Amino acid sequence: MEQLIDQIQAHLAEVEAFQSNDPTEIENFRIKFLGKKGILTGLFASFKEVPNDQKKAFGQQLNALKIAATNKLEESKKSSGTKSSNPASTIDFSRPGQPIDVGSLHPISILRNRVIDIFSQLGFSLSAGPEIEDDWHNFEALNIPSHHPARAMHDTFYFDSNHLLRTHTSSVQIHAMEKSTAPLRVLAPGRVYRCDSDPTHSPMFHQIEGLCVDKEINFRNLKWVLNDFIHKFFDSNNIKTRFSPSYFPFTEPSAEVDIYWGLETEVDYRITKGTGWLEIMGCGMVDPNVLKNCGIDPEEYSGFAFGMGIERIAMLLYQVGDIRLFFENDMRFLEQFKSTL
Ligand code: PHE
Repeated sequence: MEQLIDQIQAHLAEVEAFQSNDPTEIENFRIKFLGKKGILTGLFASFKEVPNDQKKAFGQQLNALKIAATNKLEESKKSSGTKSSNPASTIDFSRPGQPIDVGSLHPISILRNRVIDIFSQLGFSLSAGPEIEDDWHNFEALNIPSHHPARAMHDTFYFDSNHLLRTHTSSVQIHAMEKSTAPLRVLAPGRVYRCDSDPTHSPMFHQIEGLCVDKEINFRNLKWVLNDFIHKFFDSNNIKTRFSPSYFPFTEPSAEVDIYWGLETEVDYRITKGTGWLEIMGCGMVDPNVLKNCGIDPEEYSGFAFGMGIERIAMLLYQVGDIRLFFENDMRFLEQFKSTL
């Protein structure tokens, strides 16, 4: 008898401690205590084994347990009922989630990062300059005085007679040399602007400029660095390069760098104009006048510089026929570059 009373007390404690808003848990509670084969049914069945003189006390205990269980059940049902407007109870956590679209870098950023990676291995650090430039940094200091015919090579957007949108990243060469003293090795990626628009020219495009100034820098250093870059960039040691004479007012001598693209498909014939060779950048030895303009003694230091158009290389690598595709932000175009990361 004593044992039965203890059992009832333990059950009572359990009933009182029960707390849940979850309909399944509440139903399990009901089955456990008040179900047909539940605890109370079992206890009522053992009523007949209880000695007569204790039946009264036992019955009272049992009733107390029954009332407590019934009340608890009602209470729980009520509070879970009011909670059923709570979204948590209506959400089906087993449903698969919405797929999240993974973004990707723009093809121009992918290539810019690749160029930066390669040159940073050679000790070039990043440098930047403003996109709204003055005449000095974009032209004058680069050996292009106001009536120089080379100004015609640049279709410049002017704000006024002294301010313009930079036409090339070569202006960053001047900022870099003005800011720090030789020796220096900088790489300057950035947006540039020219008043020009057709399938292969956009009024805004991207260039990467390189500048190396040190004692005894010569054309062989320039060739080695650019060949090394091209082999790494195109991931091939066999790619042929060609340096041909060119002209830029701020480098002397100047060269353009061509790579052998080959003539295998009709597209190859078209993009290389039937020669198999493609120009990918301009370069040269920094003109002594430019060094002087930036307070560097050309008797002591020499340097090389190069500049390449990222869109041009992107069009080549990804066989994109129209430069405007890079700036239209059409997802169908951009999504193709996800795997190129
Ligand atoms: N600034 C030149 C251009 O825009 C490229 C260049 C850079 C050439 C550095 C030589 C040296 O065409």
